[in-house]
Amino acid sequence: MKRSIVVAGAILIGLGAVMAAGDQVKDTQAMMKGNGKNAGALSAMIKGEKPYDQATVDAALTQFSETAAKLPTLFPESIKDKPFDGDYSPSSKIWEDKAGFADHIASFSKVVSDAKGKIKDLDTLKAELAVIGKQCGGCHETYRIKKT
Ligand code: HEC
Repeated sequence: MKRSIVVAGAILIGLGAVMAAGDQVKDTQAMMKGNGKNAGALSAMIKGEKPYDQATVDAALTQFSETAAKLPTLFPESIKDKPFDGDYSPSSKIWEDKAGFADHIASFSKVVSDAKGKIKDLDTLKAELAVIGKQCGGCHETYRIKKT
């Protein structure tokens, strides 16, 4: 019984290694899509399409800071030439200009942690989302490619 569990475990680990590169692309995209969804939910409130909701704001900020923490590992060399589904791909500049990319991650991370606890109503949301959104856009401008 014990032995078969160990064997099954070893097979899974082996399979995991083979699948890792493809999974990383998926994980990276899922993370970024989550950012897009959260940013969309926040801007719907700003536009007045949705009422202000503190729980949605807090959840978005939590997800942004998870992204900030994970960003340094989201684009390993192993996915450099891997295809990304959908409309966007990472630019090769991510790997050519690692220091510049790291700077963008650091400033994104800083504005997200600065925003924590500051968003309490629509006005503060507007102010803080403008600052955060600038960081999303700043990184995309250089390091993201729109395919179409
Ligand atoms: C440090 C760089 C960086 C920061 C900061 C950043 N992104 Fe991205 N983002 C990228 C890269 C590179 C891609 C292209 C790879 C991909 O599509 O996953 C991307 C892709 C995306 C996509 C397209 C996902 C897909 O594949 O369909 C969305 C949506 C997105 N980002 C939203 C955001 C939002 C919103 C923020 C801010 C809260 C943000 N990003 C912050 C680098 C960044």
